[in-house]
Amino acid sequence: MEVVHVELGARRYPIYVGAGCLQELGTRLGETGCGVRMAVVTNSTVAEHYLEPTLASLRRAGFDPATVQIPDGEEHKNLAWLTRIYDQLLEAGIERSGAVVALGGGVVGDLAGFAAATYLRGISCVQVPTTLLAQVDSSVGGKTGVNHVLGKNLIGAFAQPRFVLADVDTLRTLPTRELTAGLAEVIKYGVILDEALFALLEQRIADLQRLDRDLLVEVVRRCCAIKASVVSADETESGLRAVLNFGHTVAHGLESLTGYTRYLHGEAVAIGMVAAARVSQRLGFCAEAEVERIRSVLVRCGLPTEVPAELRGESLARAMRSDKKARDGAIKFVCLETIGTTRFERLSCEDIVKYL
Ligand SMILES: NC(=O)c1ccc[n+]([C@@H]2O[C@H](COP(=O)([O-])OP(=O)(O)OC[C@H]3O[C@@H](n4cnc5c(N)ncnc54)[C@H](O)[C@@H]3O)[C@@H](O)[C@H]2O)c1
Ligand SMILES: [Zn+2]
Repeated sequence: MEVVHVELGARRYPIYVGAGCLQELGTRLGETGCGVRMAVVTNSTVAEHYLEPTLASLRRAGFDPATVQIPDGEEHKNLAWLTRIYDQLLEAGIERSGAVVALGGGVVGDLAGFAAATYLRGISCVQVPTTLLAQVDSSVGGKTGVNHVLGKNLIGAFAQPRFVLADVDTLRTLPTRELTAGLAEVIKYGVILDEALFALLEQRIADLQRLDRDLLVEVVRRCCAIKASVVSADETESGLRAVLNFGHTVAHGLESLTGYTRYLHGEAVAIGMVAAARVSQRLGFCAEAEVERIRSVLVRCGLPTEVPAELRGESLARAMRSDKKARDGAIKFVCLETIGTTRFERLSCEDIVKYL
């Protein structure tokens, strides 16, 4: 099992990455010194595959786990389901010393993480991510929260977990489309900060899609290390952390314009990354060859790379402008220089769509 640390002083925590490491969850939780009575929060789909081994590992280590199950789907990441989680934690007798284990993808992670951050003014949380997106992105960094009818992730808190345990074997049951969407975020890390990772992906993307275990552990570990270093440098996204938004301005615009139904997040990010590279190239920051390298590896994954004609223009600009990251009509846009290096540029949404 590999270990990466998120360096945050007294709140420093480890990310364990391995193949088959779910069985070690109980032992790892035991090391945190948290109370015996604790809860696993998961959803119906993930429970079917991984609830039993999770509970078994916790019981072997002497824990007395309660289970809180929510239905599958982003539409349940809201205040109503948060309240139901509080109810069940109270009914189960979870105290201040207890912990919440978030077992699932980013939806469960965000919701359970926020529940843990606020229940009894905050109890320990452990993230056990089971989607590729959650393993390389949402479980690391401490952003938790729920959606509001007026927008995604509008209610929440920064609250770091005690540790993250990513078992890449859980990805074997993940639908192919979800796995592929997660690959877009993996590729993003290479593009923004790690040329060597990007080159490895160019070489071995097919092995990754075949879920080669050693390669998965290596790639997830490297992505977590990148996210960990960015988060350590800028926990609350005042500056550097915004580099993680590469490709996300256009992605959020597309997701919002299509009512969050047409694209999985990673698919929109794939289109958004090529768009961001294209904009950068048109502004003279990067060479055409870099745009082509990014496009080509995404195409080989089976990800979309073009903004459909019907979604171009003013409506996309408007959708991007209403994103919460837009200020005074201008956006702190992450531009590409070369693979592995970026720069921030304030651009208007009109300019971005003009250069697409
Ligand atoms: N906190 C952050 O920093 C952060 C970052 C990025 C995204 N997010 C959030 O993450 C969420 C998206 O996360 P996601 O892409 O993991 O989606 P998700 O949690 O909805 O999971 C995708 C689907 O896969 C299923 N699933 C999960 N693990 C499985 C497994 N091992 N086998 C079979 N099926 C499995 C889920 O039940 C779901 O149907 C969004 O709500 C987004 O806002 C948060
Ligand atoms: Zn993303």
